[in-house]
Amino acid sequence: MQGSVVYNLGFAAAVCVVCAVFVSSSAVSLRQRQDYNAAIDKQRNVLVVSGLAGDDEELTSEEVERRFANIQQVIINLETGDEVPDGDPLTFDQRRAAKDPATSRAAPPNAAQVIRLPNRALVYEVRDAQGRLQLHVLPVEGLGLWGMLYGFIALDPTIETVQALTFYEHKETPGLGGEVDNPRWKALWRGRRPFNDAFEPDLTVIRGRAGPPDEDPHRVDGLSGATVTSRGVTNLLEFWLGNDGFGPYLNRLRQERVTG
Ligand SMILES: Cc1cc2nc3c(=O)[nH]c(=O)nc-3n(C[C@H](O)[C@H](O)[C@H](O)COP(=O)(O)O)c2cc1C
Repeated sequence: MQGSVVYNLGFAAAVCVVCAVFVSSSAVSLRQRQDYNAAIDKQRNVLVVSGLAGDDEELTSEEVERRFANIQQVIINLETGDEVPDGDPLTFDQRRAAKDPATSRAAPPNAAQVIRLPNRALVYEVRDAQGRLQLHVLPVEGLGLWGMLYGFIALDPTIETVQALTFYEHKETPGLGGEVDNPRWKALWRGRRPFNDAFEPDLTVIRGRAGPPDEDPHRVDGLSGATVTSRGVTNLLEFWLGNDGFGPYLNRLRQERVTG
């Protein structure tokens, strides 16, 4: 009798150990896979805002990697705008960094409702096959009506015009705020001028319709029935193109262009 109790307990313990080893080793191997998939997904979104992949184009991970070959990932110190030489873009996750108190700080109060700022940020330099700079791509985020909008803005090398704005994650209502995904609305951004003469952010999603970029360079059509989302887009661009966001980095790029 006592022998069978010992046997049963031993058996149960052995089953527990085997299961625990199985679950933890699958979690570790799946984690690597999840990180890889998340990195590929982020790269796919950068390709889309760069015009190197279509919105709905299905791409294998190999194809994403192939098209991404001319895009350089750069980790910067957000506060100074300087490149961080020891950063590893392959493992760096800006959204995770912004949540960790050890790698982030409280953001100053802002209309985009960004709560924490990562100490470091990941930006992209898109180059052509000859290595010439084509675009700067910056991550942006801010509050819409139902939650945070996450996207990328692509600026031309002179930082004087917007080439594209895309959102890859949001909770806005399809047909209303969700029209931030609409290719027709997204096309309205190309050629707009993100800064005024004093290099302050100057892009507004207005109520109603704006003119073409050459006549109305700082304004974009509002999303009808979605004033809150529209204002959210204005707010997030103002924040990330401003001094608390990528302002120091963009100023450094401007200085480098001036001094050659
Ligand atoms: C079901 C539902 C979903 C809505 N989704 C959005 C949305 O995604 N973005 C937004 O700005 N407004 C949305 N609205 C409208 C807002 O509640 C609000 O009425 C609107 O932003 C006010 O501005 P308007 O002048 O554009 O109507 C939604 C309303 C309803 C009833």
